[in-house]
Amino acid sequence: MNTPKNIAIIMDGNGRWAEQRNKSRSAGHKEGVKTLKKIVKAAVNLKVESLTVYAFSTENWKRPKAEVDFLLTLMKRTMRNEVDELLENGVRVQFLGRKTNLSNNLIKEINNIEKRSAENSNLTLNIAFNYGGRAEITDAAKKIAEDYKNGKIVLNKFEEKDFASYLYQEELQNIELLIRTGGDLRLSNFLLWQSAYAELYFTDKFWPDFAESDLKQALKEFKNRERRFGGLNDGDHHA
Ligand code: FPP
Repeated sequence: MNTPKNIAIIMDGNGRWAEQRNKSRSAGHKEGVKTLKKIVKAAVNLKVESLTVYAFSTENWKRPKAEVDFLLTLMKRTMRNEVDELLENGVRVQFLGRKTNLSNNLIKEINNIEKRSAENSNLTLNIAFNYGGRAEITDAAKKIAEDYKNGKIVLNKFEEKDFASYLYQEELQNIELLIRTGGDLRLSNFLLWQSAYAELYFTDKFWPDFAESDLKQALKEFKNRERRFGGLNDGDHHA
């Protein structure tokens, strides 16, 4: 009961997880993919509708070229290697971000997985890649300006839901629970519009250490918060 429909995760701490073990940062990212696979399965079992994960931000291009290249290759490989298992689990995969600056090969893998999984309905996995919340809102504003110029928009009838229809994915309107691993307490430009009313859950655990039990813990806390805000009739309210 009361499982949040739309969950987002900032998967932080791969690098520190690796450093702790004297491993390369790349090893940390690889482990991060393993964790993602586990959490996707758990989300299917828990009947979450959508899971949106931050895999590569518009700011991540500033990292050393070798790490950027590794993350781009890892994304491509993951899309290719995981497609069958994702299909078996009835997961629909969608890309969230700017496709500019990405190689044709990567775009091909993304388009392939999106197309093959389009009819699945157990869980929608949105992979935010080359994603930035401000970039998304800026891109929406540009498209709106274009449509206004072409007479497709009447300003005094234009509302929030109309704005939302210009975002990368119209159906992803409200994130209910936003989880961040790795100990930092910030949004880092993730889903700025969609998280307006999200409950925020932070854990010090590094992403590779995040387990199904941690997801369940976050869901439990979400339910408790809902109960507390839910009204005056739970016997728990001291005004
Ligand atoms: C943050 O850890 C993580 C990232 C920037 C990349 C997240 C990527 C994955 C979990 C795997 C890739 C997923 C796909 C689908 C390809 P960090 O490097 O910022 O860690 P740190 O803060 O400890 O340095």
